[in-house]
Amino acid sequence: ALQGSFAPKAWKANQESCRGLQPVASYKVAVLGAGGGIANVKGVAADLSHCNTPPHVQDFTGASELGSCLKGVNVVVIPAGVPRKPGMTRDDLFNINANIVKTLVEAVADNCPDALIHIISNPVNSTVPIAAEVLKQKGVYDPKKLFGVTTLDVVRANTFVAQKKNLKLIDVDVPVVGGHAGITILPLLSKTKPSVSFTDEEVEQLTVRIQNAGTEVVEAKAGAGSATLSMAYAAARFVESSLRALDGDGDVYECSFVQSDLTDLPFFASRIKLGRNGVEALIPSDLGGLYEYEEKALEALKPELKASIEKGIAFVQKQP
Ligand code: NAD
Ligand code: LMR
Repeated sequence: ALQGSFAPKAWKANQESCRGLQPVASYKVAVLGAGGGIANVKGVAADLSHCNTPPHVQDFTGASELGSCLKGVNVVVIPAGVPRKPGMTRDDLFNINANIVKTLVEAVADNCPDALIHIISNPVNSTVPIAAEVLKQKGVYDPKKLFGVTTLDVVRANTFVAQKKNLKLIDVDVPVVGGHAGITILPLLSKTKPSVSFTDEEVEQLTVRIQNAGTEVVEAKAGAGSATLSMAYAAARFVESSLRALDGDGDVYECSFVQSDLTDLPFFASRIKLGRNGVEALIPSDLGGLYEYEEKALEALKPELKASIEKGIAFVQKQP
């Protein structure tokens, strides 16, 4: 695991001017499972500590150091667990990752119950409900502070749509709703910004590519794991957005898999507004005025997403 301290305003001020800095808030971020796909965690910490960026990076190893890693932390990012190999679904990771996420979230509840928790470990559609149940059992569940990280779906949707429609990448924003596995990943191309029209064929092709993008990487890596670099980019974006929101920026929007009343499912990914206390609002307007293809896909994803959520809840509730 890694811990880093970061002061968004100090960083911004430092970038903008060389004059003296005002005292500013500083935040701690912990990454649980930080050595994944790259190196031994001590090596990762040594490597990162040479960057001329503000965070002070510390490494922690093993269960005995988990409490020290989590003390005073504002944001906990959890990518710990095993990745897919070709031929596997994300749900095939449940048997190993469910217990890893449960154990780590218990430690979060004991050491930093007020932290925002970003769950990356798959299957996200089940690991987020697992985390919620653990936090409930510990009496510290705040639904506004628990997030399934689906940023990579948005990153992919933006990239593929910009390529297909020859748009300036920086301008493109496609909300992705539902969950984070197969058909539960639903890009809302009808809500693409800037406004752009798609043929029915383009909608289908782009949707299927975005839904299968994780598998595209798993197959290309041929047994050596799943997305790590684009995931690191997506996780950095979501953490930075969270820190900006904690720091009082009133204009922070991201998609995430959170407790939700936008549909009849208890958890659902949608665009959310982030604030000082986590989720400040869900954005229901994205679900209105959908293409017919999207309407059907939304109904079609619900049974699978419901089953994955229930599997996660049952995993914790059935434990002695
Ligand atoms: P990896 O095997 O490279 O790294 C996983 C890390 O977790 C390793 O360092 C391992 O030591 C650590 N770990 C395992 N059990 C642990 C425990 N009990 N406590 C602390 N650390 C533990 O895998 P990866 O490629 O980094 O993928 C990790 C997870 O993230 C997988 O489940 C993968 O499916 C998921 N993932 C999700 C997304 C997403 O968009 N949400 C994207 C990419 C990967
Ligand atoms: C992804 O979308 O890349 C991750 O969920 C990893 C995977 O197994 O596809």
